[in-house]
Amino acid sequence: MRLFAQGTMPSGRNSPRPLRRDRPARARDAAGTRLNLKKLTAADSKDVWKWRNDPATRKNSTVRRRIAWKEHQRWFRKVLKGRRHHLFLVTQKKSKLGMIRFDVRSKRMLEISINMNPEFRGQGFGQKSLRLACRRMKKRFPNHLQKAVIRKKNKASEKIFSRAGFLPAQALDKSGRWLWVRR
Ligand SMILES: CC(C)(COP(=O)(O)OP(=O)(O)OC[C@H]1O[C@@H](n2cnc3c(N)ncnc32)[C@H](O)[C@@H]1OP(=O)(O)O)[C@@H](O)C(=O)NCCC(=O)NCCS
Repeated sequence: MRLFAQGTMPSGRNSPRPLRRDRPARARDAAGTRLNLKKLTAADSKDVWKWRNDPATRKNSTVRRRIAWKEHQRWFRKVLKGRRHHLFLVTQKKSKLGMIRFDVRSKRMLEISINMNPEFRGQGFGQKSLRLACRRMKKRFPNHLQKAVIRKKNKASEKIFSRAGFLPAQALDKSGRWLWVRR
């Protein structure tokens, strides 16, 4: 699928504005403490479930209802086993800061989803984690485009994806969902 020619990204009046890539990529926070990306495991299931049912997460998701524990467990086991899914847990020392998932959608496309632990949002961790994870996956899948679906009202998400090098490519529907892409 060709989404846009190089240098000709759509920029209609209503398209989300890409932000300047004005922040250096750092894997450390202001205090110099390192963030780590680990493989997500079955032991993280409950945390992931709690974060998924957080109201802000639900508001920004395609499926907005609460997810029952059993339904979550079935899904979680499936994605942990699936070879098309790459799941990262972001940690700092012993704190679990959030998770990032990459789904291999095709031979050319990875889809990304990020959900930070509500206790650690708004502290710059989402931005740093996304950059780290995207870079790591680019090394592993150099020829794949990375895409994400972002609601126009999700300003924090637009900021972190834009700063990680994503650009808005196309509106997906009238509900304000946009496809963002990074080469
Ligand atoms: C979106 C999300 C991943 C961002 O991670 P985060 O750690 O909270 O974001 P950061 O602290 O790195 O902040 C990035 C920028 O967004 C801003 N921001 C954070 N929360 C915001 C909010 N609720 N409204 C507007 N801006 C916000 C920050 O101020 C920062 O901008 P600045 O550097 O210009 O000050 C996180 O909030 C989250 O998990 N949200 C729920 C799930 C979700 O929306 N996932 C994305 C689906 S595409």
